[in-house]
Amino acid sequence: MNAWPGVIEHYRPWMRLAEGVEPVTLLEGNTPLIPLPRQAAELGASAFYVKYEALNPSGSFKDRGMTAAISQAVHDGAKAVICASTGNTAASAAAYAARAGLRCIVLVPRGKVAAGKLGGAIAHAAEVIQVEGSFDQALEMVSTLAAERAIALVNSVNPFRLEGQKTAAFEICDALGRAPDWLALPVGNAGNITAYWMGFTEYHSRLGSGLPRILGVQAEGAAPLVLGHPVDKPETVATAIRIGRPARGEQALQAARESSGRIIAVPDEAILQAQQALAGEGLWVEPASAAGLAGLQREVAAGRLSLAGSTIVCVCTGHGLKDPDIVTTRAAKPRVIPVEMDSLRDLVDR
Ligand code: F0G
Repeated sequence: MNAWPGVIEHYRPWMRLAEGVEPVTLLEGNTPLIPLPRQAAELGASAFYVKYEALNPSGSFKDRGMTAAISQAVHDGAKAVICASTGNTAASAAAYAARAGLRCIVLVPRGKVAAGKLGGAIAHAAEVIQVEGSFDQALEMVSTLAAERAIALVNSVNPFRLEGQKTAAFEICDALGRAPDWLALPVGNAGNITAYWMGFTEYHSRLGSGLPRILGVQAEGAAPLVLGHPVDKPETVATAIRIGRPARGEQALQAARESSGRIIAVPDEAILQAQQALAGEGLWVEPASAAGLAGLQREVAAGRLSLAGSTIVCVCTGHGLKDPDIVTTRAAKPRVIPVEMDSLRDLVDR
């Protein structure tokens, strides 16, 4: 059997993990790079792909980083892990901790976590603690506790998270045969943009795969990297990136600078429209995941970006199933009919 073994086994020579680390894996990674020719045409690009990270085991890109962080934590003798989360990190940590038989504690901002994410963390029996504050405050709390106790912190301040997450850049280069011209992705705590840039630069220095320009996209109500200062009360419909003090903000700005790219902010409405556009292509992603496309659309429409002749990859970080309420509460309710053929015909023929 020549099946996909998960990101650690597949890319181990490229990953800085301690020697002898046994992978704790759910066979994450190897996600599809899906061509969307209609979006390419609309953006004026020669090719447009979605790196569909929703198809990881827990439904988001976090699994790439979590396999590395949890494997390393087990190797180091940890019995418990902890994280702060807007939801996806919590669900992923819970899944991998369950796999490894570790205690898992997650702190989430009360009332601001989408149902599918909270459900995931609970399903895997993580100890879920709701904080009456923001993600940023929760991250400060877990960082303090992890320094006091023998509990491994598995937020993306943990360097092993980035070692895992950078493998998405490798997969993109492997699939295209080179780096794309632009990579667009949402930016919250800024671990992922940092990991991608690390991945692309490492692959390029060894294989000459080229480097993309990076477009990082924040929501307007949670755009500290665009404003140039922390945001105390971040607000956005894209709750995954509702973050006002990104832990790796400096590195995100560096990735944008070094790649000749940029970090921009888009309004919530643009994010929801991009989510709808992707759904119209058959890809249901959670709102934050649509930020990359929203950013591209906005820059192109404003004449700040010309994509002629370019190959674009947009990272869709999490599944739409994570946050079903966003679409169901905004759409008209499905019609109800009695079990009568005439009622059905009436509705269909209208
Ligand atoms: N997209 C989704 C779906 C996310 O869940 C996150 C972050 C991001 C994008 C941004 O990635 O933080 O590395 O810049 N979610 C974290 C969490 C904060 O707790 O699940 P980032």
